[in-house]
Amino acid sequence: MMSEMLTPPDILHVRDLHIRFHLGREKRTSLLRRGAMRTLHAVRGINLDIRQGETFSIVGESGCGKSTIARALAGLYTPTAGSIHFAWQDAAQPGAATQQGAQMIFQDPYASLNPRWRVGRSLAEPLVLSKKVGNTRQAREYCGQLLEQVGLSAGDLDRYPHEFSGGQRQRISIARALATQPGFLICDEPTSALDVSVQAQVLNLMRNLQKAHGLTTLFISHNMAVIAHVSDRIGVMYLGRIVEQGTVEEIFSRPSHPYTRLLIAAIPQFDQPGNEREPIVGEAPSPMNPPAGCAFAARCPHSQTVCCSTEPPLHRFSHSHQIECHFPERVRAAI
Ligand SMILES: Nc1ncnc2c1ncn2[C@@H]1O[C@H](COP(=O)(O)OP(=O)(O)O)[C@@H](O)[C@H]1O
Ligand SMILES: [Mg+2]
Repeated sequence: MMSEMLTPPDILHVRDLHIRFHLGREKRTSLLRRGAMRTLHAVRGINLDIRQGETFSIVGESGCGKSTIARALAGLYTPTAGSIHFAWQDAAQPGAATQQGAQMIFQDPYASLNPRWRVGRSLAEPLVLSKKVGNTRQAREYCGQLLEQVGLSAGDLDRYPHEFSGGQRQRISIARALATQPGFLICDEPTSALDVSVQAQVLNLMRNLQKAHGLTTLFISHNMAVIAHVSDRIGVMYLGRIVEQGTVEEIFSRPSHPYTRLLIAAIPQFDQPGNEREPIVGEAPSPMNPPAGCAFAARCPHSQTVCCSTEPPLHRFSHSHQIECHFPERVRAAI
């Protein structure tokens, strides 16, 4: 009861979200028959609740649909089916007026910074658009403070993006995303393009800002080690579905889906350099032709006939920890 009262409210509900891309028709095979329409089913029924102030991470191999979810949440893609609902869309919600929507940080900081604009102009633009500041002097002062928060200086307002390193540019796009005090921050592989030595610094900065501002964040990465560092809760994605979901503790100390276990086993161990990690064998099926049943069956060491014909049911280990699997107890016993 007590813990229920202390649980912050949800900011986002995603229900049975599907996103299909239409890729045009196949080639004609005869004069009479037109080629069939080809579609790619990138997101295949995602359910997600994100609480105020938490960092929810999505992890999975390249092509599993992470960026497609990010873009849909940012309003850049329209769902083919299902729903995305932010708390501030309810007019009656207290505080709705202060929640100013979602901001996105991309892998490539050039995607959000105009190379021909001085940094100050890039930072001020969202403020001006949202009418957050009264005049240019106020905007300049506020943007200078933003740069200081991300470890740069107010003097950098007059410089151009190319004058900064990759890590510094990503700090600028973080400052830009924070400028309007967004209700929800979407970070799509924000450090993947950076040198390993810089990645940790930027991740630490993001973690500190997230805590200081109580930011609600969706964090996306293909890198399990990065995910371990930044997340409160984690969703493991495979071919358009979240196959396991849990707190960071549940995912790393009791990983239960065979795919999650493969991802964790593949994390390089810096303390044991001689110890070869298990590579993940095989490839995910094509989202143009998703298999019947469990999408992971072809690569799963525990798969049975039923796995290839019937969609796996949802199995809950706790209120926060769940997997989609036909044999949850069997795979757990194998740990
Ligand atoms: N705009 C698009 N048009 C067609 N296919 C797309 C588009 N965006 C992504 N895809 C396809 O959707 C699948 C998921 O892509 P994406 O969400 O980018 O994966 P991830 O971010 O996990 O690497 C991939 O097969 C990709 O080729
Ligand atoms: Mg991506």
